[in-house]
Amino acid sequence: KTLIVDFGSQVTQLIARRVREAGVYCEIAPFQSAEKAFAEVRPKAVILSGGPCSVTDEGSPRAPQAIFDSGVPILAICYGEQLLAEQLGGRVEAGHHREFGRADVEAIAPSALFDGVWDQGKKYPVWMSHGDRVTRLPEGFEVIAQSENAPMAAIADEARRYYGVQFHLEVVHTPDGAKLISNFVHKVAGLKSDWTMAAFRQEAIKAIRAQVGDGRVLCGLSGGVDSAVAAVLIHEAIGDALTCVFVDHGMLRQGEAEEVVTLFRDHYNIPLHHVEAQDLFLDALEGVEDPEVKRKTIGRLFIETFEAEAKKIAQDQRGAPKFLAQGTLYPDVIESVSFTGGPSVTIKSHHNVGGLPERMNMALVEPLRELFKDEVRALGRELGLPEAFVGRHPFPGPGLAIRCPGKVTREKLDILRKADAVYLDEIRKAGLYDEIWQAFAALLPVRSVGVMGDGRTYDYVCALRAVTSTDGMTADFFPFDMNFLGRAATRIINEVKGVNRVVYDVTSKPPGTIEWE
Ligand code: XMP
Repeated sequence: KTLIVDFGSQVTQLIARRVREAGVYCEIAPFQSAEKAFAEVRPKAVILSGGPCSVTDEGSPRAPQAIFDSGVPILAICYGEQLLAEQLGGRVEAGHHREFGRADVEAIAPSALFDGVWDQGKKYPVWMSHGDRVTRLPEGFEVIAQSENAPMAAIADEARRYYGVQFHLEVVHTPDGAKLISNFVHKVAGLKSDWTMAAFRQEAIKAIRAQVGDGRVLCGLSGGVDSAVAAVLIHEAIGDALTCVFVDHGMLRQGEAEEVVTLFRDHYNIPLHHVEAQDLFLDALEGVEDPEVKRKTIGRLFIETFEAEAKKIAQDQRGAPKFLAQGTLYPDVIESVSFTGGPSVTIKSHHNVGGLPERMNMALVEPLRELFKDEVRALGRELGLPEAFVGRHPFPGPGLAIRCPGKVTREKLDILRKADAVYLDEIRKAGLYDEIWQAFAALLPVRSVGVMGDGRTYDYVCALRAVTSTDGMTADFFPFDMNFLGRAATRIINEVKGVNRVVYDVTSKPPGTIEWE
């Protein structure tokens, strides 16, 4: 295992992904609890992340001494490098040259870190982002790479297996970064590539059996990838001791409910309760305009419906389920580094089954807790889920309700579902679906005048949204070419009654959010 100590860099999760892509399991610990994590995980290698502080500031975070005492190899990135230098007796100065963006570094000494990737005397592009720099090396270290503004762009103590880099090798803008990280975990730390989805599947099945014993498990399916993968994995572990519940709240996309029901009942033969609660939800949403009220209403009804169904299931001859399965992912459980300690503002109250386990007095089964989204997809493929299902864009719990700003009506939802289906069909035809993180249509509460044939129309405006993102936290709008947008707009207006104008949303996140509400 590898332990990554997080000093608050925006891209710490990327380090973890690169390590896992190299076939090595790793965990992230915030610096505040790094000492405890180091003792528990007993890693064979440690990576110190970057971070926003300056080691020259009083009270700035440090790495636990235990890590240096243990003799494990260390790769230290950016703030981590300065910290490594400082804690081992070198010197760091607040930088006069702040350096951001692309730079070229020259490898000036042979190193295990560069082995087979960078040749001595040659220059390579990297991504820099730092203010401070190391000015005196600790004993045992030498400079292995330099750039114009960073004479100590990479440093090493090959004997102790300590490496420090001023640049970010975890980002794609450092093209050889993944190979250097692979060198560190394989060649320097001697770790094997045994983190594969096939191995994870076997381990997870054992762990689920051990946790659940002969108890029953209830799993709520949302139609999304995470809960589906969790359910299929659990079913493989315990068979029909798993019962799935799928609540159709009437705000799903076109064909979605049928797809889920067919996949689980017919393809996998997993016991599934399909609760048709469309009227309950849509009646409760009548006249509701406020996005937070919408979200809360849907969340509350979802919990009530799920609970009622669970009670029914508990009454069958096999007895009450003791466990509730959830598709929680690693990004949801990583403790984040906070320097302010203050509460963060609620931008949107997310709808999930949070609160359910406590209310229902059930223990949680969360077999995906260690995985990133792309790993969940890989596991889904490993479990034989259809590609079209595994590769699906994320879909929010409150569904189309939050893509229909203002009052939600059955009529509007029907229009939206059709427009969305046409838009996605065009995206698939253009071969762009997998390049996009999320694409969907929103139906605006605005009517505009148009002309069709010889007649005047007065219909809704449909907004198209498509973004690229790695985690949904930040996003850029997708740069479609105008011909594509023209084609999609024409088809929507021709095929979807009720829409006579289409616009494209070119807002990034921040300042926008991905969803409209
Ligand atoms: P925003 O709109 O906040 O969305 O930029 C970020 C990501 O989260 C999804 N999202 C949700 N997912 N329940 C969910 O399960 C929710 O209530 C919810 N709200 C937003 C959104 O689709 C995007 O991927």
